[in-house]
Amino acid sequence: MSTSIPVDETVIAEAATRLGDGGLVAFPTETVYGLGADARNDEAVARIFAAKERPRFNPLIVHVADRSAAEVFGAFTDNSRAIADHFWPGPLTLVLPCRPDCGLSLLVSAGLDTVALRVPAHPLAQELLARFAGPVAAPSANRAGEISPTRAVHVTDSLGDAVGLVLDGGDCIVGLESTVLDLCGARPAILRHGAITREQLERRLGDIEDASIPEAETAPRSPGQIARHYAPKIPIRIDATDPRADEAYAAFGDPGANDAAATLSLSPSGDVIEAAARLFATLRALDRSEFAGIAVAPIPDVGIGRAVNDRLRRATAAHAD
Ligand code: TXA
Ligand code: MG
Repeated sequence: MSTSIPVDETVIAEAATRLGDGGLVAFPTETVYGLGADARNDEAVARIFAAKERPRFNPLIVHVADRSAAEVFGAFTDNSRAIADHFWPGPLTLVLPCRPDCGLSLLVSAGLDTVALRVPAHPLAQELLARFAGPVAAPSANRAGEISPTRAVHVTDSLGDAVGLVLDGGDCIVGLESTVLDLCGARPAILRHGAITREQLERRLGDIEDASIPEAETAPRSPGQIARHYAPKIPIRIDATDPRADEAYAAFGDPGANDAAATLSLSPSGDVIEAAARLFATLRALDRSEFAGIAVAPIPDVGIGRAVNDRLRRATAAHAD
């Protein structure tokens, strides 16, 4: 049985013990809930893939307590160290060359010689990582291809009994996955847009390549870029200003009068950060078979709005084939 109970020190200790025993623990981060396992334990990591029914080629992010813990696994340069120290703890994942013999399960990087590292800011994630004192591999705590969970109940809804313990930390403040930044090449590249914006990164790094939309003919650099990744069960129609009577409508700003069968606003005040935080919960709430689809209002393609649009395009692509 999955349990979601108030979190105190005893529960954190139990969670750390479970991780040490090769078990799974779902925990909140400031972005989305993660499904964690000891990143050094092959069987434990395999259990993540099994619980998520996730394709094995998709590598996982390794969560650690701080930058010095990250140095055990990733080969930092002065540059990547400066980026880490500025943005960690926080919603930025750094892809770095993996240190040989660092002890990580090979399943974690799915065969790549790089590792994705992140120091989450959520206090419960911090407490768990400090208590466990080891690397925690954690993808979002949902079945592969489903929307990422931003509340504890989303985790149990999606994964059911596959996860033994869910630490309930309330709603995720950011509500959208971390930005994935590849620092392995000569030029930094964004592999996934997220809560830390390209503008924020460019202020520190200069020009950054946007590798988040792979060219059709080339293999994706980050397997999470595969189009079928973020998808409600009913079709999504983006940039919609005219919802139809059989559609649900995810508005942006004041929805005004419309024909939709149901309407929720991603941000009544028209704030892209609020829209990001509410995106997955809103899609989830509207993802019901009684609707022909979800019409989503145009979202400004600035700052974190770019990540929102990226997720929405992927959700559209999932129904295109
Ligand atoms: O906000 C987040 O990042 C959440 C929370 C739980 O930390 N985690 C998350 O993990 O979204 P996941 O597994 O759903 O997404 C990991 C992303 C995928 O796009 C994956 O392909 C990419 O990171 N990734 C992981 N390791 C990589 C590597 N070595 N090289 C390139 N991309 C990598
Ligand atoms: Mg995910």
